[in-house]
Amino acid sequence: MPVVLILGATSGIARPLAEEFARRGYACLLTGRDEYETQALASDLALRYGVRAEALVLDVLDFASHQAVIDRCFERAGGNLAGAVLCIGYLGPTPPAEAGPAEVRRILDSNFTGCVSLLNLLAARLAQQQSGFICAISSVAGDRGRQSNFLYCAAKAGLTAYLQGLRNYLFRFGVRVITVKPGFVDTPMTYGRQGTFLVASPESVARGIYKAIERGQDVVYLPWFWRPIMLLVRLIPEWLFKRLRL
Ligand SMILES: NC(=O)c1ccc[n+]([C@@H]2O[C@H](COP(=O)([O-])OP(=O)(O)OC[C@H]3O[C@@H](n4cnc5c(N)ncnc54)[C@H](OP(=O)(O)O)[C@@H]3O)[C@@H](O)[C@H]2O)c1
Repeated sequence: MPVVLILGATSGIARPLAEEFARRGYACLLTGRDEYETQALASDLALRYGVRAEALVLDVLDFASHQAVIDRCFERAGGNLAGAVLCIGYLGPTPPAEAGPAEVRRILDSNFTGCVSLLNLLAARLAQQQSGFICAISSVAGDRGRQSNFLYCAAKAGLTAYLQGLRNYLFRFGVRVITVKPGFVDTPMTYGRQGTFLVASPESVARGIYKAIERGQDVVYLPWFWRPIMLLVRLIPEWLFKRLRL
């Protein structure tokens, strides 16, 4: 039975994504910082889909624990790890200019530094294995910094660049890297936020992520129309962009 590792399994997008995998017979290793909630998700998957599902505790901000958690995941997968999907993220407050040093660090570590630390450990193991995939949810926010959430944008831009380089590095080892860039998705992250539009359901985004992994796509925008939208957004000249309220 192939095993998939879902990092940040309690996320609004990760929940239907885990079901996409379980429905197809994958055993699921779920990590979350809330032990009770993550265990409940694992039990639910096992019960409804008849697959093996296990919960592991992981706080991305606890860098010292990363090596042990990743080692444990490989141990539990018993040589059958098909790949991992990273769904961890933290939007932070608006306006971002009001964030103090602790909050700045939390946003950057939750979306970039902590995720990169985990993915780098995973990449080393998958390179040894010479197979598998790493799929990470970045964001359209990483395509251009905006005044409404520029700390999050900066962290996601860093994650996107990291994944680009990682894909290039892991190619020769037969390991695929898939970058997912969703637009707005109806999850706890965006709940009650002003200024969201073209909001997608987490179920449709989860289906898109599963398909992108199956097809071995490099970079996928979800829904698809965010690709032309972001192309236009990136083309706006800086002298005009700085005057817009985005
Ligand atoms: N929603 C959107 O509009 C949108 C758009 C583009 C990209 N994304 C990205 O999609 C991914 C999934 O987000 P979502 O929309 O599903 O939002 P979500 O429901 O708020 O999920 C965020 C996930 O990150 C986890 N997390 C946050 N801080 C953590 C920490 N210190 N240690 C471990 N886990 C931590 C949360 O755990 P808890 O459940 O314990 O809080 C939760 O599982 C994120 O990377 C997000 O940036 C979302």
